[in-house]
Amino acid sequence: MEIIEKAPAKINLGLDVLYKREDGYHELEMVMVSVDLSDHLTFSSLEKDEIKIETENSFLPLDMRNHIYKAAIALKEKYHIQQGVHIYLDKKIPVAAGLAGGSSDAAATLRGLNKLWHLGISQEELVALGAEIGSDVPYCVCGNTAFVTGRGETLHFLPTVPQRWVVIVKPRLSVSTGSIFKELPLHSLEHSNVKGLVEAIHQGNFSEMVKNMGNSLEATTITKHPVVAQIKEKMLQFGADTALMSGSGPTVFALCEKYSRAQRIYNGLKGFCDEVYIVRTLNK
Ligand code: C5P
Repeated sequence: MEIIEKAPAKINLGLDVLYKREDGYHELEMVMVSVDLSDHLTFSSLEKDEIKIETENSFLPLDMRNHIYKAAIALKEKYHIQQGVHIYLDKKIPVAAGLAGGSSDAAATLRGLNKLWHLGISQEELVALGAEIGSDVPYCVCGNTAFVTGRGETLHFLPTVPQRWVVIVKPRLSVSTGSIFKELPLHSLEHSNVKGLVEAIHQGNFSEMVKNMGNSLEATTITKHPVVAQIKEKMLQFGADTALMSGSGPTVFALCEKYSRAQRIYNGLKGFCDEVYIVRTLNK
């Protein structure tokens, strides 16, 4: 038997950091939306009791450092599984980009192996297991539009946002989420109004959504990597309804109601960065 799972990227329409917690993590308020830029994972049983991951992408470690491996081991240990699995990863989401690619692969592994091994684990349990693997994994288990709080493990589902074109631009550099959090000026942080954003989503009011979109990590990433600000500026010049960094960056996305605008941004940025995509927000 073969199971195929789609692992979509996410973008943050809002991200605010409230305070640093005693466990070293930061208390967050985020609005996450899935977009149609996806990895695909194919799971099949192996006779030998081992976890074998294969991919064409030569930059990814295929051992315990990989979130897919961590998810498979977590399931095997918790549910005493003594079967092997072969996992083929078709990687499309840029790595270390702020798009939760690794987290979405881990979440797809939890969902896929739940099916392959007939475990019957509930979504709530998969979310709890996901939180042990990484802060973005709980959201990625479920996808959709969500208001996410805590360290990333508390999910409140929201109405689907009005569907928009999303132009995603990833400059050629990687950002470590841990290093951005470490350098955050917590006392002088500019907070974004995530609660206002949530309210606007409930009302289905796109212009209010745009007004309240923001990312409290953006300024810190821009200080280290000014290209993020340059991309934002270009997107707005080319006619984006709004442009924002996703997660801890360095990916920037533009939202557009009209496809012609999205295409203008795509064409304008294509010469500036290698990795440019036009996708849509995902509706369930
Ligand atoms: O949970 P994850 O491994 O994805 O997080 C990567 C790093 O980002 C953590 O080691 C931590 O430094 C930082 N982080 C944080 N607060 C969060 C999420 C992540 O400080 N809520």
